[in-house]
Amino acid sequence: MKIVIINGPNLNLLGTREPEVYGSRSFDDFLTELKTKYPAVEFSYFQSNVEGELINELQRVGFSANGILLNPGGYTHTSVAMGDAIASIKTPVIEVHLSNVHAREEFRKISLVSAKCKGTISGLGLKGYELALSYFL
Ligand code: DQA
Repeated sequence: MKIVIINGPNLNLLGTREPEVYGSRSFDDFLTELKTKYPAVEFSYFQSNVEGELINELQRVGFSANGILLNPGGYTHTSVAMGDAIASIKTPVIEVHLSNVHAREEFRKISLVSAKCKGTISGLGLKGYELALSYFL
């Protein structure tokens, strides 16, 4: 079972970035725990602040991985190209947001990727990634 986690812009700063919104745990710390908890899963992790690099990674893994957990960060609300990339690949994608995007600013209620994804989890913090993973297991 090959699972790819892709995080978009500013998620490299998780743990220090607005901890009241996104929590105070680093993603690396969380990922280490996830790998220990699910030893049978082959995880790969990619983070970029660059839209095109995220699209390249979706295309690279999107015909061979079993599942993709994607947090597109701010590109969620702006990127037609990321939505197109998700629609173009074979691997199902679950959109994950740490915060509840529907309880925040108006512009965060719009997602240009949701309609292309298998489903969306929003507002459950890092637990959302684990719940998305469980869909594929
Ligand atoms: C986010 C929500 C986005 O609106 C925001 O731009 C992020 C993080 C989340 O995980 O809650 O960067 O995707």
